[in-house]
Amino acid sequence: MRKPIIAGNWKMNKTPEEAAELVKALVPAVKGADCDVVVCVPAVCFAAVMEAAKGSNIRLGAQNVHFAKSGAYTGELSVDMLTACGVEYVVIGHSERRQYFGETDATVNLRVKAAVAGGLTPIVCVGEKKEERENGYTDAIVEYQTRMALTGLTGEQISALVIAYEPVWAIGTGLTATDEQANETISVIRKAIARQYGQHVADAVRIQYGGSMNPGNVKGLMAQPEIDGGLIGGASLKAPDFTAVVMYNK
Ligand code: PGA
Repeated sequence: MRKPIIAGNWKMNKTPEEAAELVKALVPAVKGADCDVVVCVPAVCFAAVMEAAKGSNIRLGAQNVHFAKSGAYTGELSVDMLTACGVEYVVIGHSERRQYFGETDATVNLRVKAAVAGGLTPIVCVGEKKEERENGYTDAIVEYQTRMALTGLTGEQISALVIAYEPVWAIGTGLTATDEQANETISVIRKAIARQYGQHVADAVRIQYGGSMNPGNVKGLMAQPEIDGGLIGGASLKAPDFTAVVMYNK
């Protein structure tokens, strides 16, 4: 049995003060959650979130990481910097990074390998664009992105990481994949992993759905057998909404 994992992706939102306020409200509210709970926050909020989440079941995540140990990479953060701040998870290859910041399957792979080597758990994002789904390329795209992202990792390393299937057309649009669409595409990803790395790896790896997941649709999505959690954008910015998503089975 895979333990579900629900992660908030705050994107470029919240000052440290606002972050502390949100996490303070979440701590008692998500206390009895049956899933792993993560908030992936802007780096300037790491300290405030760590402090507010102390002693709770809320884990800290980042939204990107560089693959070099250190060096002349202005604006970037290394694995060691993140782990030193208490970060345990890191979103890699989010479609916004792919779309606006030149992220490619090759750089996603470098980041994933560096994160794993340094003890961070990657949340690796894959997903098709609207025209790709309309033209029937969804399965091919997500399978290719997944294979590329995981190249060079062992089955054991893959078992321990998290994949987020996020159809690009569903992110921040209010459009959600239907429960069945999300389940089906996640099953395509899992089968691709099974073919390459073995069924035991595919059975262990956790695959989230992301894209306008919210208190209204979380139950249906989480009832699908292949969906092991969610990566939550907009609905992770307000304590009552994120609480309702995390406590979907209560
Ligand atoms: P959304 O974002 O929930 O606002 O659609 C999800 C994501 O981008 O991870």
